[in-house]
Amino acid sequence: MEYDWGMRNNSISPVKRSKAEARSNYNRLSRWYDGLAASEAKYRRMGVAALAVQPGESVLEIGFGTGGCLPDLAWQVGTAGFVCGIDLSDGMAAVARERLSAANLTDRVALTLGDAAYTPFGEGCFDAIFTSFTLELFDTPDITRVLGECQRILRPAGRLAVVALVKAAQPNLAERVYEWFHAKMPVAVDCRPILAQSALRETGFEIDRVISTKMWGLPVEVIVGRT
Ligand SMILES: C[S@@+](CC[C@H](N)C(=O)[O-])C[C@H]1O[C@@H](n2cnc3c(N)ncnc32)[C@H](O)[C@@H]1O
Repeated sequence: MEYDWGMRNNSISPVKRSKAEARSNYNRLSRWYDGLAASEAKYRRMGVAALAVQPGESVLEIGFGTGGCLPDLAWQVGTAGFVCGIDLSDGMAAVARERLSAANLTDRVALTLGDAAYTPFGEGCFDAIFTSFTLELFDTPDITRVLGECQRILRPAGRLAVVALVKAAQPNLAERVYEWFHAKMPVAVDCRPILAQSALRETGFEIDRVISTKMWGLPVEVIVGRT
């Protein structure tokens, strides 16, 4: 079948690699990841700022990667709060642990290895959840599942901040080229644009704030939702 550049009926491209492949890819990339993804740092910072974490809060980061946001989240919750993280890749987690150790923050951050579609956390145990450039890695039914988990483990009126590549109504050249690479190299180019706002609404989140921006010509949204 001819490839539709991810645009037919504004469809979201399927995920054609397994979670085991994702884990081994991120394990392989973990030592180089910060350099490779340096251009994403500014968008992650925008997301953390939008979440507006308060002292004493409990915060989860989904797909914490090499832990670029964990120190900021840990400083914001202070000594009275705590931060948890869940990620599939032990290689990424090893780099994140080194970062936390260097910042003397290991006492207020607990990292878990696992699939964010099936978290081990109890109901209502977080005030806020943060995730950047990770929701796009889940296949469409799994996005619903991850957001359903967020609903379950957030307290009433809990906040969720998502930073994600999003689909535009009329994809530009950069988006078409990116979708082509995603289709041809589903392991290496595993993020793909999603309809993040719709996904949050469909899983019961009220949207408080959206910041729309671009990264290398690709639309990115920072979305803050509330349970
Ligand atoms: C593109 S990286 C983004 C990392 C970090 N959030 C950032 O912005 O730098 C995606 C991260 O999600 C993790 N990941 C992929 N699939 C996952 C899953 N099913 N459950 C939890 N984490 C997952 C990967 O291991 C990787 O660390």
